[in-house]
Amino acid sequence: MRVEDVTRSVREHHKWFSESLPLIASENITSPAVRQLLASDFGHRYAEGKVGQRYYQGVKYIDQVEQDAIDLALKLFKAEHVNVQPVSGVNANIAAFFALSNRNDALMALDTSHGGHISHGTKSVAGIRHLRIVKHPFDSEEMNIDTDAMIATIYEKKPKIILFGASVFLFPHPIRDARDAAREVGAAIVYDSAHVLGLIAGEQFQDPLREGVDVMTGSTHKTFPGPQHGIIFSTKALADAIDEAVFPGTVSNHHLHHVAGLAVTLVEMLEFGKAYAQQTIKNAKTLGAALYNSGFNVLCPKKDFTESHQIVMDVGRASAMALALEKANIITNKNLLPWDDHNAPENPSGLRFGTQELTRLGMKEAQMRVVAKLITRVLNGEAPEKVKKDVVEFKKDYQEVEYCFSHELGAYQFPAW
Ligand SMILES: Cc1ncc(COP(=O)(O)O)c(C=O)c1O
Repeated sequence: MRVEDVTRSVREHHKWFSESLPLIASENITSPAVRQLLASDFGHRYAEGKVGQRYYQGVKYIDQVEQDAIDLALKLFKAEHVNVQPVSGVNANIAAFFALSNRNDALMALDTSHGGHISHGTKSVAGIRHLRIVKHPFDSEEMNIDTDAMIATIYEKKPKIILFGASVFLFPHPIRDARDAAREVGAAIVYDSAHVLGLIAGEQFQDPLREGVDVMTGSTHKTFPGPQHGIIFSTKALADAIDEAVFPGTVSNHHLHHVAGLAVTLVEMLEFGKAYAQQTIKNAKTLGAALYNSGFNVLCPKKDFTESHQIVMDVGRASAMALALEKANIITNKNLLPWDDHNAPENPSGLRFGTQELTRLGMKEAQMRVVAKLITRVLNGEAPEKVKKDVVEFKKDYQEVEYCFSHELGAYQFPAW
C-alpha cells in the first residue's frame, strides 16, 4: 500500500460526493474557512486543562481561540455555562451521565426503535455508567413521547436523569411537561441536542435551555454545520460538575483544530443560522409532502411530516432500498421504526432523510421536489444507474457552501500548512 492509494481513495470519495445527494440526517459540510482550520497546526498540539490553567506550554493562541469558542457559544445559545472540550456527542453524553448519576441509578430514555440513540442504552454509555433504563412511553402515531404516561412513569420509577433528544427526531420533546415531576423526584433533565443543535441555534426548533433542562449535550456536525466535535451546556450550578466530568473525567486532550473550526462555525451561525435553519425545515416539509404525494408512507402527514430537518418513510425492505438509492448516488440510511423487531436493527422498515446538507448547498423547495422525483424513480423500480445520470447532472449546480461568509477563501486563505 502506498500513500497514493490512500489519497486516490479520498479523491474518489470527494468526486463521488460532489456528484451525489447526501441526505443522511446526522451529517453536514463545513465552510471553506473551517476546512482550512481543520488542517492547521492546532491539530498537532496538546492543551489539557481549562483556558489559562493548562498543563502544557505553547498554548497562548490556542487559549485565545478556545475562549472565543466559549464566548461565542454562550452568546449564540444564551447559555449560563458551556464546555467545548468533548470530542463528540457520545463523549458529551458520557460526561453528562458521569456528572449527574451514580451506578445503579435509573436513566429515563427513548428506546432505539422510538428514535433513541445507542448511547442512551445499556450497550453503550448508559451501560458504561451501570445505569438502569426506564423507557419513555412513546406514541407511535404522533412519533413523540406520550406526555401523560411520561409524567406517571417519572413519579413511579423516580429516575435520576430524564433524557430528551433522539436520532429519529421529528417533533420537539415535552420538556416543560416533565419539569414539576422531575423536581419532585429529584431528577436532572438532560437534553441530547446532537441532531437539532443547528435548528436550536437558529431558533427554529424548541429552546431547551429556557424550557427547563439542566444540561444540554450535543454534536457540532449534524444540523449544526461545524467540525466533528461535541459540546455541553449547563446551568451555572452544574458548571463545576460538568467541567470535572469532561476533564479529567472523560477527555484528556481535546481536538484543538476542531475547536478552532467550531469557533468559526459559531460566528457563521450567529450571522446566518436563522435563515439556514428556517430553510432546512421548509425543505424537510417539502420533501416529505412531495414523497407522500408520490404515494409513499411518509410518517405523520397530519402533522406536516416534521418540525425538524428529518422525515421518515416506512418502505418495508429499507436495507435493499437504501442500497438501490446509493447506486443512484442518493445517500441515505435505513432506520428502525416503532413497529419493527427491536432485535433486528439490520433489517428495519424505515428510511430517514435529512435536508440540512442540501440546504447548505443552496437547495430550496423547488429542488426538494426534484430530489423527491429522483428518489421516487429508484424506489419505484427504475434502474438506479439510469437515475444516477440525472442525479449527477442535477447536482452540478449545487457545489458551494452557502450560509457562510465567502465562497472564495480570500481573507481566510492560510499559507500552505
Ligand atoms: C441523539 C444522538 N446523540 C448522540 C449521537 C452521537 O454523536 P457523535 O457521533 O458526535 O458521537 C448521535 C449520533 O448520531 C445522536 O443521534
